[in-house]
Amino acid sequence: MKEQLMQADILSQQGKWAEAVNLLCALNQGRPDIGIERKLVDIRLQAHTAQQWLAPTAPWAGEWENYPANGHGIDEIEPAAFNASTLAKGILGRGALLVRGLVPQEITQELKEAIDTTILAREQENQTETSPWKYVSPHMKGRPSNFGAKDAVKRKKVKKGSIWVAESPRIMQRLIELYGQLGLRSVLTEYFAEPPVLSAKKWVLRKIAPDAIPADWHQDGRFLGTNFHSVNMWMPLSECGAGADAAGLETIPTANRKIHETGTQGAAFDWSVGRGLIEGLRQDLPAFEPRFRPGDVLFFDHYNLHRTAFGAHLTENRYAVESWFFSSSSVPQKLMPILF
Ligand SMILES: [Fe+2]
Repeated sequence: MKEQLMQADILSQQGKWAEAVNLLCALNQGRPDIGIERKLVDIRLQAHTAQQWLAPTAPWAGEWENYPANGHGIDEIEPAAFNASTLAKGILGRGALLVRGLVPQEITQELKEAIDTTILAREQENQTETSPWKYVSPHMKGRPSNFGAKDAVKRKKVKKGSIWVAESPRIMQRLIELYGQLGLRSVLTEYFAEPPVLSAKKWVLRKIAPDAIPADWHQDGRFLGTNFHSVNMWMPLSECGAGADAAGLETIPTANRKIHETGTQGAAFDWSVGRGLIEGLRQDLPAFEPRFRPGDVLFFDHYNLHRTAFGAHLTENRYAVESWFFSSSSVPQKLMPILF
């Protein structure tokens, strides 16, 4: 094992990042090891920045215009129909794509428990060196504010929490394995016409209490910019949305790709879209709040207008994993790209 870890270091120093990752993944398969998983976080964080990524020569999203979508609403498909064409048609033609039952329920249950374990590990300050669920890589800059160590005293008041996946090496490795098994690597490579990468800042574990302060309508392109290609995989791990006891996601899906005015017409924040503007949009475009079962996945990109759908009737926490993928040549460096 020690020799193989040294070998991974040598490969990294030679710039053979993917080979180093493959070696460590094979070593970790079936018998997860804290040292390997932490090294994988370090290498994946360094690898993208250290490499030269050329823009693709093939067109982005293939021939998706050949499948124009009619009418309003989100495309809903079964996992067998999930490919680069249905993804392009859904995201670019409709504004989102819902794949029912993409992730097996035993895996959603496992991930939900892993999020709780990750939260618990953060409460045990003395376990930093021994926990596979808690790690701050020297190659990572910053961390999200909620559930952070400095919040420990106030934790009883924390109603919604975000943890970067890259802060929990075991869950990160598990998710990367899962995304490979679901075919995301090949689907996204075809969609972007180049390899996809993840991002430390936009790959987040979430647990939201039913009485959390409601978030406002927004587009992620408002914070991130729009000079790149992206796909967000929104994976709820709880039964949620319309008629359920946990908060779902409400969206106004459209093929119209523009960033709306923010901070006006009753907006709660300078980055959010005001109620007045939303009401105007809703006259032509109905809002959708799907009912999600664990394992259903919603795909959209940085133009999608959405909010967490809170309501007075809610009683349950909502668990979810939010994974933003980017085309490797266009990802903003400030998002801390992660080799996928
Ligand atoms: Fe968002």
